[in-house]
Amino acid sequence: MTDTTTEDVVVYEVVDRIAWVKFNRPDKRNAQSPTLNRRMAEVLDELEFRDDVGVLVLTGEGSAWSAGMDLKEYFRESATKGLEGTRRAQRAAYRWWEQLRWYRKPTIAMVNGWCFGGAYGPLYACDIAVAADEAKFGLSEINWGILPGGGATKVATNLMSARKAMYHAMMGENLDGQQAAAQGLVTESVPLAQLKDRVTEIANVLLKKNPVALKATKDAVRRVIEMTYDNAEDYLIRAQEAADSFDPDGRKEGMKQFLDDKTYKPGLGAYDTSKQKS
Ligand code: ACO
Repeated sequence: MTDTTTEDVVVYEVVDRIAWVKFNRPDKRNAQSPTLNRRMAEVLDELEFRDDVGVLVLTGEGSAWSAGMDLKEYFRESATKGLEGTRRAQRAAYRWWEQLRWYRKPTIAMVNGWCFGGAYGPLYACDIAVAADEAKFGLSEINWGILPGGGATKVATNLMSARKAMYHAMMGENLDGQQAAAQGLVTESVPLAQLKDRVTEIANVLLKKNPVALKATKDAVRRVIEMTYDNAEDYLIRAQEAADSFDPDGRKEGMKQFLDDKTYKPGLGAYDTSKQKS
């Protein structure tokens, strides 16, 4: 069995209210081992409710964002423990991807390099994904003889057209960042040299928004995708009313600064949340 220490496979720092979380197995192209998956869940827990964290960025050390699941530690070694080993390994991965999908803070995937197979789980989980033009995306499962599991097929079909998803899954060819953006896998793509600046710029915009409204918005977008129009309409009324109960002064302050104080225009930017009473 591989004996990987738990301390260093995920690293993070918090700078100016942005938590920069890194897959940190560059020598293994940040492949997701059970050890990494368990540690990532702990890190997400540590950061989720910290007042000094407003946005979480997930990126990778070295040349990879993540080369997917670790074929040795996640697949081969887990299988030596039978069904229990396989299911435990799956749960350790799926658990943190789910946590990230519904994370309290806005999340940005900063895709700096290789992104394969099992990396599509966290890619999809992040609210916004910015790639480097130089990054490479692939459902490489077909190249080593399995189907894209662990949600990867669902990610492709949710984000891409059916024709593009089918081709992507069957051919095992890679897309660069610009192609991934054109096909809907990521929000946008910029040259690697500009990647961190662009992600910081987006994070700083998010940091100025009302955090309760942001959480309600990101959940709403994910939820309504699978609803009928009528169910979505109903859900959105109730979700806003629930947000109002957590944040009774938010929208009032937003309206006041526009209608009475005339200090900003909602069509051009966010109100000053620092002036809000609660
Ligand atoms: N699982 C286990 N080990 C991996 C993985 C992985 N997914 N990806 C890379 N590594 C290891 C390599 O085995 C190698 O280990 P070693 O130094 O002990 O020999 C090390 O990381 C470096 O890898 P190289 O292949 O030498 O790196 P290179 O930069 O040349 O290539 C690339 C990078 C293209 C990402 C290549 O490593 C690769 O094809 N990896 C597998 C990608 C993949 O198919 N992932 C699985 C997707 S399917 C799924 O997730 C369910």
